[in-house]
Amino acid sequence: MTTHKIALVTGANKGIGKEIARQLGQAGFTVLMGSRDLARGEAAAKELVAEGLDATGIQLEVTDEQSVRSAAEEIESTYGRLDVLVNNAAIIPVGDDAVSRVESGVLRSAFETNVIGLVSVTQALLPLLSRAGQARIVNLSTSLASFAQVGDPESRMSTVLTLGYNSSKAAVNMVTVMLANELRATGILVNAADPGNCATDMGGSDAPRTPAEGAAVAVRLATLGSDGATGEVHAEAGRLPW
Ligand SMILES: NC(=O)c1ccc[n+]([C@@H]2O[C@H](COP(=O)([O-])OP(=O)(O)OC[C@H]3O[C@@H](n4cnc5c(N)ncnc54)[C@H](OP(=O)(O)O)[C@@H]3O)[C@@H](O)[C@H]2O)c1
Repeated sequence: MTTHKIALVTGANKGIGKEIARQLGQAGFTVLMGSRDLARGEAAAKELVAEGLDATGIQLEVTDEQSVRSAAEEIESTYGRLDVLVNNAAIIPVGDDAVSRVESGVLRSAFETNVIGLVSVTQALLPLLSRAGQARIVNLSTSLASFAQVGDPESRMSTVLTLGYNSSKAAVNMVTVMLANELRATGILVNAADPGNCATDMGGSDAPRTPAEGAAVAVRLATLGSDGATGEVHAEAGRLPW
């Protein structure tokens, strides 16, 4: 069994997830790079291995319970535990729109990936996280899930009309708080990270922040000491209001 700490990042074949994997690798973790297309996960892992990091692709489609179960079994049989879980995989569904217009199927697909997928991955891996002692769970959130920011008519966040994305990420915030409460006595810390507006396929090429800058927030929460926060959402500048 490896003595390195083991981290799993979902949706790590590109974007912020790949950068989180890279930075965790640089921090000494063995990184498992979840990807729904294994070949793309392996290609991303190969890039990191070429940089001298310890990374492996792992097939993981978060909405497919069989895929989630198989990934958990693979991690259990190879490593016997998991030190860090970063729930990064998410979508803004095509057709996402304002409350008055969004179609129910669009809304459903946002919740299927961003909330139900995240919870099912977390549930499958909790036994392995519990074995690690001092494990960390980080859920990727966004300012678009913040009631304080979206509720401020002067804020840019109030102008983004994507109910599926915003409300599913608000649900991720509640998952974060409730799981932190459940695990408070165990030493497992659970937090949400807002990477800011980053230039990825999701964020668009004009976004002001790099994926690496966005990743740093999640990596900080993934490597908190035992006196670290739990049940909070943090951005680069510190704790955010819900
Ligand atoms: N970019 C921003 O400005 C920004 C701002 C705030 C929060 N965030 C959050 O940061 C995280 C990463 O965003 P990003 O900008 O890096 O997005 P991205 O470039 O679109 O990458 C998303 C990743 O999630 C994967 N994914 C999507 N659905 C999946 C599923 N059902 N099963 C497994 N993997 C799935 C994608 O896989 P495929 O390649 O197969 O599609 C991809 O690897 C997300 O949680 C996002 O909400 C981003």
